[in-house]
Amino acid sequence: MFDEIAPTYDRLNHLLSLSVDRYWRRRTVRAVRQRLALRQDSRPILDVCCGTGDLTLALRAGLGEGVEVLGADFSGVMLSRAQAKAPELGWLQADGLHLPFADGSFAAIATAFGFRNLADYRAGLSEFWRLLQPGGVVAILEVARPTVPVLGPLYQFYFERVLPRLGGWISGHPEAYRYLPSSVSRFPAPPELAVWMREAQFRAVEYQRLSGGIATLHLGIRP
Ligand SMILES: C[S@@+](CC[C@H](N)C(=O)[O-])C[C@H]1O[C@@H](n2cnc3c(N)ncnc32)[C@H](O)[C@@H]1O
Repeated sequence: MFDEIAPTYDRLNHLLSLSVDRYWRRRTVRAVRQRLALRQDSRPILDVCCGTGDLTLALRAGLGEGVEVLGADFSGVMLSRAQAKAPELGWLQADGLHLPFADGSFAAIATAFGFRNLADYRAGLSEFWRLLQPGGVVAILEVARPTVPVLGPLYQFYFERVLPRLGGWISGHPEAYRYLPSSVSRFPAPPELAVWMREAQFRAVEYQRLSGGIATLHLGIRP
């Protein structure tokens, strides 16, 4: 499914979110930068489920040229688009639940709109924990259900009725854009995911609701 929507993915992302997705990624980078104690010998940053690489590139731009940033995704077509944008970065085809890196390899792990797709969220959290060095930062940006009273129902209508039709029509893959609202509805609410992060041994766990709660940024630190 992700291979199929890759050619229109960036265009639709910006169109369907009115480009707010760019702002959410910038917020993610800023949160990582604030929590990260970068040293001379710092380990790299990994963007899991990197897709076409927009968060990977935002991390590289926001953290500085000296910081090594890698992107991993299981869709070869998404990755080839990422690679075309920045051939100098490291891109890897891999499952986010079984990443081929040694324990403690990364100073930070970030993921945008990908975590929701993992087959097992708790297994995803423990894989991220394994890959982080002590003091390492995890940042999970996800689509969420809005919390604002009047905007909520209007957005819900847009998200469940308008967006799947528009996305399906432009991409030519209606099932992929029907999957989007259904995957958000099965995803745990922010307080629940925060509990799971604490149970996975992350500390300083918090979440920030963005744009009236239509996206949430989850943060934590591996002690
Ligand atoms: C909605 S896109 C998000 C892409 C990108 N992170 C962004 O900010 O736009 C979700 C991505 O997650 C990837 N993905 C889903 N499940 C995955 C898994 N188990 N392992 C690796 N990548 C996965 C898909 O291939 C797709 O590129």
